[in-house]
Amino acid sequence: MPVTPQSLRERCAREMSRSPRGFAGCDWLYEAFLTVPREHFVPDRVWWPAPGPDGRYPLIDRAVTPRAWLKAAYRPGAALITQIDDGAVPPTGPATGAFTSSISSPGVIVELLRHLAPEPGHTVLEIGTGTGYTTALLARRAGDTHLTTIEIDTGMSGRARRRLHALGLAPRVVCGDGEQGYPEGGPYDRIVSTASVRTIPPAWVSQLRPGGVLLTPLDSPYGCDLLVRLVADRPGHAKGTAVAPVEFMRVRSQRSPRAYTDLGWPPGGPDGVPWDTLEVEADRTGQRITAVPTPPERNS
Ligand SMILES: C[S@@+](CC[C@H](N)C(=O)[O-])C[C@H]1O[C@@H](n2cnc3c(N)ncnc32)[C@H](O)[C@@H]1O
Repeated sequence: MPVTPQSLRERCAREMSRSPRGFAGCDWLYEAFLTVPREHFVPDRVWWPAPGPDGRYPLIDRAVTPRAWLKAAYRPGAALITQIDDGAVPPTGPATGAFTSSISSPGVIVELLRHLAPEPGHTVLEIGTGTGYTTALLARRAGDTHLTTIEIDTGMSGRARRRLHALGLAPRVVCGDGEQGYPEGGPYDRIVSTASVRTIPPAWVSQLRPGGVLLTPLDSPYGCDLLVRLVADRPGHAKGTAVAPVEFMRVRSQRSPRAYTDLGWPPGGPDGVPWDTLEVEADRTGQRITAVPTPPERNS
C-alpha cells in the first residue's frame, strides 16, 4: 500500500484512539487532527530527538530521505527538533546541543488540547507558536478570529505565520515574550502554553476571563513536567490540579533551575505524594502547590 500523508495521518489517529491518553472519545479533536496536514508544518530538515551511536542527534532531510521524513512526522510519540541552541546550530547534519524548539509530538498535543477543551468562538491565547501546528488545530476548533499565538523567536514566528496563511488560517501571530501574555487580545477563555514554566506568569492568570482555563506544563520535583489545568475563580486568581506528566521545553527566561521550595512546592519533595493529588493555585503573588489528602474509604 502506498505511503501517503493521509494514510499516515489516519494510522496515527487510529493509534492515538487506542491510548487512554489519546483522543479518549473527543470527536472534534479527532476530526481536527485528520483535517490539518501535519507535514505542512514540519520543516524540510529536522533532528530526531534521540542521539545516534555517536552521541549526536541525526538529521532527517526531506530531500534525501522523503519517506523517512514523512513517517517521522506521523509517529504519535515523536517530537521533531526544529531548533538547537536558539538557532546557533544550522540544520546541515547531525548535531548536539540544547533543544530550543520543536514540532510537538501528535500524542502530547492531542492530550494538551483534550484537557484545554476549547469551544467554537472562544478567545484563545497560545504561548510558544513553534511551527504553528498546534495553532492550526486550535483554529480548526475555536476559529482564527479570536485566536492569538505568541512566539519569542522571530524566524520561527514568521515561518509559522506563512504556513498558517498558506492553509487559509489567519490568527494573530505575535512575535514577543509570551510570559507577558497579550492583553490586547484578551480577556481569554483559554490560555495554553506549549513551553513549560517553573513559575506560572501572573500575566496569564490576570488575562483569563472568569471561568477561563489556563493549561501549562509546570516543572516539578517528580522528574518531569506536570500539565496543570487551572480555572479562574476570581479576578487575578486561578486554581486547579495536575492532569498529566509531560515533557516540554522551558520558556526562555526560566531555563535556570531554582529550588522547588522557592517555587511554592511543599518542602520534602514528592515522597509518598501522588502527583494527581496536588492542588495548584496561582495569582500575582506567585504559586502554591499543596497535596490534598484523599478522603478515607468509607466502610458503609
Ligand atoms: C515545544 S515548542 C512549541 C511547539 C509547537 N507547539 C508546535 O507544535 O510547533 C516551544 C516554543 O516556545 C517558544 N518560547 C520559549 N520561550 C518563549 C516565550 N517567553 N514566549 C513565547 N515563546 C517562547 C520556543 O521558541 C519554542 O518555539
